[in-house]
Amino acid sequence: MKLSWSHAVLNVRDEKGILDFYTETLGFNISDRGQTTENGPNIIFMSQNKDEHHQLAIVSSRTDQDAANSLNHLAFRVESFEDVKTLHNKLELAGVNILPLSHGNTLSLYFNDPEGNGLEVFWDTPWHVAQPDGVFWDTSLNKEQTLAWVKETFSNKPAFSKRDDAKGDWINRP
Ligand SMILES: [Fe+2]
Repeated sequence: MKLSWSHAVLNVRDEKGILDFYTETLGFNISDRGQTTENGPNIIFMSQNKDEHHQLAIVSSRTDQDAANSLNHLAFRVESFEDVKTLHNKLELAGVNILPLSHGNTLSLYFNDPEGNGLEVFWDTPWHVAQPDGVFWDTSLNKEQTLAWVKETFSNKPAFSKRDDAKGDWINRP
């Protein structure tokens, strides 16, 4: 049995604000929408992957004003370094606070959606590094400079190796 992550569902307060952010800033498509039950709240399904009906859904049912919930972050992989840079620019234009962090195995951008839900968008580097690990990265560097920096920064860290060589090295419980 292999479990691959499929989707997350968020309870939200401001349907339009959240929908605008995920569709316009992050580029999600709406795959379906409707009411959860006859008198129930709306649910809107979104995806960027034709093989997933929804990677994310929002239910307009949240009434509290608390900032906190139990979600740490949702994470989405992109296919290229240029995708990360493009998103960085879009987020900057949208006035979103961005934390650029490299885990050695990724170049990640951490940020929040308009209701404070944590998000990570990342691109895989060619390397594996034991986790947790993370170092701020300079988003003004180009791809070549950034990969050279990642290699220099993480090559003496535990388990540094080529990504493909480390696949399936599970840490099982003692
Ligand atoms: Fe993450």
